[in-house]
Amino acid sequence: MTPSAAALPPGHRVVVSALAESPPEALDSATSIAIEPMAAPDRASIGPRDVIVAVRAAAVGWVDLLMTSGQYQHQPALPYTPGLESAGVVAWKGPEAGDAVGLGDRVIVDGLLVGPRSLGDHQRWGGFASYVVAPAEALHPIPAALSFDQAAGLLGAYETAYHALVARGRVQPGEVVLVHGASGATGLAAVEVAKLAGARVLATGRSEAKLAVVKDHGADHVILVGDGAGGVRRFRDDVKALTGGRGVDVVYDPVGGAVSLESLRCVRFGARFLVVGWASTPYVARGLGLRGAPNANAIPTNLVMMKGLDVLGCPAVISTLFDPALRPPRLAAVLRWAAEGAIRPHVSHGFPLADFRAALRARWSGDVVGGCVVRP
Ligand SMILES: NC(=O)c1ccc[n+]([C@@H]2O[C@H](COP(=O)([O-])OP(=O)(O)OC[C@H]3O[C@@H](n4cnc5c(N)ncnc54)[C@H](OP(=O)(O)O)[C@@H]3O)[C@@H](O)[C@H]2O)c1
Repeated sequence: MTPSAAALPPGHRVVVSALAESPPEALDSATSIAIEPMAAPDRASIGPRDVIVAVRAAAVGWVDLLMTSGQYQHQPALPYTPGLESAGVVAWKGPEAGDAVGLGDRVIVDGLLVGPRSLGDHQRWGGFASYVVAPAEALHPIPAALSFDQAAGLLGAYETAYHALVARGRVQPGEVVLVHGASGATGLAAVEVAKLAGARVLATGRSEAKLAVVKDHGADHVILVGDGAGGVRRFRDDVKALTGGRGVDVVYDPVGGAVSLESLRCVRFGARFLVVGWASTPYVARGLGLRGAPNANAIPTNLVMMKGLDVLGCPAVISTLFDPALRPPRLAAVLRWAAEGAIRPHVSHGFPLADFRAALRARWSGDVVGGCVVRP
């Protein structure tokens, strides 16, 4: 019997039904986020170009945590299923879905077109579920070298790194790039992308064990930023020593807060400062929708001025809404690098879907290096 003729078995999905005050409160609540049974998608009620994907792995991202407390800039309507990105197997396809993917193919589900970060008809199909329904154009074959776990978080991490370093930062061979949060999903991807761009990479983190993984992914030097008491060291001294007193050409900053401020002392005149995120200030928009206030990050304009800095905001998804031409080259580059083995997505943690709380807690508490997934 072909997969198209076989009945698809029922499964499960995670549902967020109410926003909590904070991610930990969402995880502690028995009701605001829960797992429930899910029937296989009804083929009669989905579009002719749609494809049913049996999810094998869904990335557990920082943004999934922020969304549970209304702190993300793009909030899906409640109730919603988390999981911005996923990977799985084509289980059924509509009569007009074309030949680009076939039954049984391993595919990446594009989070810009499907799931809670998307805008259109497929927003409800988050990856924390046994099945997602995706339009055919939202599916990309998984490069042979990648596992489902690696494929699930590929695009978000590496497209962000590409957008910031290549499209915005225009990193040149021989330049020195300081990558913060290098043990994180976007940071570890940025280490690899900056190396591919020909840069010398100084990568920062808070744990020697995690920085060993970062070094294995190509960082030329690793620097501890923590002072051991929860604060940030004067890492400018390390950076100056490693750059002959000159400072770096580019800062990739997904951390924010005190790390951003110290970074302004680590740059050469005329450097580019790439604002990617604020992992160190997870309550940046606390107050459910009061975006950016009152805890938003700030950087002192006197240093921006005196160091002649170019401060570049790097929102990987929002940028494509204003300039759709940004997407095709970066998507092609990331998929090509993955196919060639030029990038090696690292996934330190995987959990059964039923343990989604443990997966989100691992991400929240900083246990993860690179990627974390749930497996339906
Ligand atoms: N611009 C975009 O389009 C875009 C796309 C994706 C994500 N983001 C944003 O980028 C940020 C990082 O995302 P991610 O997915 O990489 O998250 P992640 O995997 O959880 O990584 C966070 C990183 O930040 C580090 N970090 C956290 N708090 C810190 C602190 N107080 N001091 C120093 N380092 C700290 C973590 O270090 P440890 O490993 O030591 O905990 C880790 O390396 C988030 O704010 C996210 O919203 C932006």
